[in-house]
Amino acid sequence: MLILGIETSCDETSAAIVEDGRSVYSNVVVSSLKEHQQYGGIIPEIASRRQLECITPVVDEALAKANVSFDDIDAIAVTQEPGLIGSLLVGISFAEGLAVSLNKPLIRVNHIHAHLYASALKDHDALDLEHPLPNLPAIGLVVSGGHSSLFRVTQNWQFELLGQTRDDAAGEAFDKVARILDLGYPGGPVIDRMAKNVDKTDLRFKCGQMDQPYDFSFSGIKTAVLYHHQKNSENDSYNKSEVVHAFQKSVVKDLVSKSLRACLDQNLQTLLIGGGVAANSHLRSELQSACDSENISLHIPAFRLCLDNAAMIAGLAFYRK
Ligand code: KG4
Ligand code: ZN
Repeated sequence: MLILGIETSCDETSAAIVEDGRSVYSNVVVSSLKEHQQYGGIIPEIASRRQLECITPVVDEALAKANVSFDDIDAIAVTQEPGLIGSLLVGISFAEGLAVSLNKPLIRVNHIHAHLYASALKDHDALDLEHPLPNLPAIGLVVSGGHSSLFRVTQNWQFELLGQTRDDAAGEAFDKVARILDLGYPGGPVIDRMAKNVDKTDLRFKCGQMDQPYDFSFSGIKTAVLYHHQKNSENDSYNKSEVVHAFQKSVVKDLVSKSLRACLDQNLQTLLIGGGVAANSHLRSELQSACDSENISLHIPAFRLCLDNAAMIAGLAFYRK
């Protein structure tokens, strides 16, 4: 079964062709990120205007790259929620019009759930061609710009929420810390790179702890970085790499310990991660060693499938048909 996926929840316009929820034939992603960078965050009006311009050529390119036509497509999938309303409307209206005119089914997919599905996709450009399917049930950790949540993922890719952030999402904290330190937007990739300039530091920042074992809080650590910066940035010894190293270390430790705790509490041997922060190299390596020592099988999406993309939407849609 061939599904055409469409994703327009934030600044990206993406279309993909995926077979049977598994093989990615094409996955075209166009981002308007550069136009937002001067404002330090996404401007919804700019995002949706660009998506209106891009959606038709992006869908055409996804079909051409997969070497298929509209006739070969069995269903159309689209991101239903969550996201910026103007951006979602572009994708949903386009997909609804396409489904009616081609007389094909339309499948609406939750963006957050789809991030966790990304680890099940076989990306043709990746080296790992065998790419094993995750065994379900599993624990799933979604860490993106807008969400940080832990799920129990059951058979047929159903999602049961175990915990989530009470304030900022993990990606949001990376973006805000980068803004405080004047490192540009988005903050995740630059912090990831800069943190590697330092091996060790005595500097410590702590993530907030909640009554609920699977809930997160990242707003306090961002404020701690702000106060530290205000107090010390004029000192000769002040080193931004040290600050981001300590910040990243603490966020990663919190994400790893809560994910592992959920696996052990629920007696599950599979952990899935997804979302933009899953691209973080320190998180990937720390999760891998923690999972190795507990005999837990870790499934991380190919690097380019961590960020927003339509392949994950077309993939999960196969289980919603
Ligand atoms: O999943 P995503 O592409 O969009 C949303 O659905 O939000 O995630 C974007 C977020 C941004 O906050 C960005 O700073 C973060 O993912 N991000 C990273 C890295 N690459 C992107 N965070 C930490 N380390 C990275 N390497
Ligand atoms: Zn996302």
